[in-house]
Amino acid sequence: MNAFVTSLMSKMTLEEKIGQLNLVTPGGAVTGAVVSKDVDEKIRKGLVGGLFGITTGPEIVRKAQEIAINNSRLHIPLIFGLDVIHGHKTLFPIPLGISCTWDMDLIQKSARVAATEASADGLDWAFSPMVDIARDPRWGRISEGSGEDAYLGSQIARAMVKGYQGNDLSKYDAIMACVKHFALYGGAEAGREYNTVDMSRIRMYQDYLPPYKAAVDAGVGSVMSSFNEIDGIPATGNRWLLTDLLRKQWKFNGLVVSDYTSVNEMTAHGMGDLQAVSALALHAGLDMDMVGEGFLTTLQKSLKEGKVTLAEIEQACRRILEAKYKLGLFADPYRRMNAERAAKEILSDQHRKTAREVAAHSFVLLKNVNQVLPLRKSGTIALVGPLADSKRNMLGTWSVAGDWNKSVSVLEGMKDVAGAGANIIYAKGANLSDDTTFAKRVNVFGTEIDIDKRSPADMLQEALDAASKADVVVAVVGEAADMTGESSSRSDIGIPESQETLLKALVKTGKPVVIVLFNGRPMTLVWENDQATAILDAWFGGTEAGHAIADVLFGDYVPSGKLTTSFPRNTGQIPIYYNHKNTGRPYDGTGFPKFKSNYLDVSNDPLYPFGFGLSYTSFSYSDLSLSQKNISPNQKLSVKLTVTNTGNYDGEETVQLYTRDLVGSIARPVKELKGFQKVFLKKGESKEVTFTLGVDDLRFYNNDLKYIYEPGDFKVFVGGNSRDVKEAGFTVSAK
Ligand code: NOJ
Repeated sequence: MNAFVTSLMSKMTLEEKIGQLNLVTPGGAVTGAVVSKDVDEKIRKGLVGGLFGITTGPEIVRKAQEIAINNSRLHIPLIFGLDVIHGHKTLFPIPLGISCTWDMDLIQKSARVAATEASADGLDWAFSPMVDIARDPRWGRISEGSGEDAYLGSQIARAMVKGYQGNDLSKYDAIMACVKHFALYGGAEAGREYNTVDMSRIRMYQDYLPPYKAAVDAGVGSVMSSFNEIDGIPATGNRWLLTDLLRKQWKFNGLVVSDYTSVNEMTAHGMGDLQAVSALALHAGLDMDMVGEGFLTTLQKSLKEGKVTLAEIEQACRRILEAKYKLGLFADPYRRMNAERAAKEILSDQHRKTAREVAAHSFVLLKNVNQVLPLRKSGTIALVGPLADSKRNMLGTWSVAGDWNKSVSVLEGMKDVAGAGANIIYAKGANLSDDTTFAKRVNVFGTEIDIDKRSPADMLQEALDAASKADVVVAVVGEAADMTGESSSRSDIGIPESQETLLKALVKTGKPVVIVLFNGRPMTLVWENDQATAILDAWFGGTEAGHAIADVLFGDYVPSGKLTTSFPRNTGQIPIYYNHKNTGRPYDGTGFPKFKSNYLDVSNDPLYPFGFGLSYTSFSYSDLSLSQKNISPNQKLSVKLTVTNTGNYDGEETVQLYTRDLVGSIARPVKELKGFQKVFLKKGESKEVTFTLGVDDLRFYNNDLKYIYEPGDFKVFVGGNSRDVKEAGFTVSAK
C-alpha cells in the first residue's frame, strides 16, 4: 500500500492532492443546509475525493465513479459515503432502541445486514457508529447513541464496527465504519443542539471517551470530528484531540473527516475566517473536509503564505488514498455497485426477518399491571392513537435511504399477528400535536405530524366509541420520528398535550389501557406510569416495527429489553444518570432532610432506572456467593448467583453486575456497570450465573489521568437493573 500510494502521489499536482481532501454531496439525501455545486465538473478536474448522500442505488453511484475513472487525469476512484445509521434500506430500531437489546450478536448482525445492503448500492463508507454518551434527553441526538454508560457503549461500538467492516475491508460487502462525533458531542449544555461542551478531563476519560476508543481499538477505518468545542477549541480544529489523543495516544491510523461544514463553522465559534479555520483544521489533524470546501478553496493560498506545510497536505491526502486502497477501490472501483445483488438482497425476506427479531428484542416493558399483557388473539381490541396507523413514523430519525412505504404499521402488524380471532377497531383519536408551528418544524422531511381535518373533539369521540366496544385499549402514542435526531432538541420531553388529552379520556373509561410508546429519547411519564395499565416502550422499531410490536403484545416474543438511559421524572432532574457520585451530603431517599443533596419538589431517583425492563415472566436472584473475600492484584474473583424464572413464561433476562470503589484517591461513582450476561430461562428453570472480576475491571482515571486501580474495599452488586440488586463486599490487597 505504501509503495502504491507513494508512487501515485508522486504523479499528483498540489491541486489534485487537495482535491482528495474534498468530500461533497450532490444533494440527494439532504442531511444539512449546504449542497455542493458543479460536482461532475469537479470530479473531472480531480477536485473531489468522495461523494456522500446518494440513496438512489448502484447505477447513480456508478455514473459518478465512471467520471472519476474515465475522465479525471489520474483515474483515482471516489469513495462513497452515506448516513447508514440503523440499517440501510431495511431499517432496524434507532440506535438507542437497539442498545436496549444488550445483545452484541444481534447488534453486530444488524450492522452486517446494513453493510450488505449499502455495499450492493455502491457505498463504501457508513457514517456510523455514533457513540456519543448522553445524559440529557432534551438533546434530540440521544436517539442516535447507546445511552449513558461508557462500558456498554464501548461494547456496542465494537460490535457495530465489526458488523460493518467484517474481517477484510476490501471485500465487496464490507464497508468502512466512521465513529462519531469525536468527541463529547453528547455533553451539549442544556441539551440544546450544537451547544457548548465543557467538562473535566477526568469525566472525559472516564465517562465519555471510552466508546470512541473502543471503536478505534476494534479497527474502525475513520473518525468524524464533532461540531462542539472542547476546552474552548472546536473539535474540528483541536490538535490535542485529533492528534495528541487520537493518533499519538490511541494509535489511530485511519482517516479523520469533519462533520458537515464543521470546518467553516469554526468561524462562528470565533476562530477566524475560512482560510484561518481551514489551516487550523488541517494542522489539528483533520484529513477530509465535508461539504464546506474550505480546504479546496484556501489551502493553496495558506501553503504559499506558510500557514500550512506541504507535509500536512500530503499526510491528509495519503490517509484518504490509504482508505481507498484498503477498501479495494484501486483494484476494482466498481466492486460495491451491484444492481443484481441490490435487487436480491435489499429488503430481502431474510433481512426483514432479522429486523423484526432485533426490534422485538429492543422494546422495553415499563409497566404491566394484572398481567394485562400479553394480549389474547381473540376478543375486541381498540387500537387508537396517532401512531397506530402511521407507516411514516415507524423508521425513526436518520433513515435516509429508507422508504417508509415499505414499513409495517402497528395496525398492519396487529392484524397479521392476531389473525382472524381478534377484532381490531382502529381510531386515530388525536393528532401527534395540534400545534401547527411545532408540526411545521418537525415536518421538514415530510408530513410526520399529520394534522387531521376533523376536529380534536370528533377524533376523540371516535376513539372513545372504539374503546367502549373493546375489552382492552392499545394506545399508540409518543413522538413523531423527527422529534428526535439532529436539530431536534426539546425543552419539554413529555407526550404532547393533544395525546395526553386522549390518554386521560381513555383511562377514564375504566378499560385497561396499554400504552405503546414511540420515542427517540427518555420521556417524562409520571402520569402515564400512574394511570396506564401497561407501557411498552417501542422506540422507533424500523421497517418491521409493526410486526415486532404485535409479536410482543401478543406474547409471541416475551419482552426482554432493558433501558440504557435513566428516565427522569421531570426535566428539572436532568442530567440524571445511574453512575453519579455520592456528594458530601448524600440523600438516602427518605423524607426531606434539610441540608442534604436533594430537591424540595421531586425525589432524586429516576422514574425508571438504567438497566430497567420488565418481562411477562419474573426472575428471582439468589444471594451472591464470592469465591473469596480478598483478592491480590493477580487474582480473579468469581461472583456467582442463581437466577430463577419464577413466572409463567419462558423468557430472557439481562443479568447486570456493578461495582463500587468505596475509597479512592478521587471521588468514585456509587455504581459502575462492569459486566452483563443475557440468560434464557424456561419457566421454573434456574441457572447459575458466574462473573469474573479482576483489578483490570476496577481501573479508573486518577487525577493524573493514569488508568489505575487502587487497593481497598469494594462492593459488588448484581441484579436485573441498576436499582434492584443483591450485594456483597470484597477487598483488593496491595500485593
Ligand atoms: C451532520 C451530522 O452531525 C452527522 O452525524 C452526519 O453524518 C453528517 N451530517 C452527514 O450527513
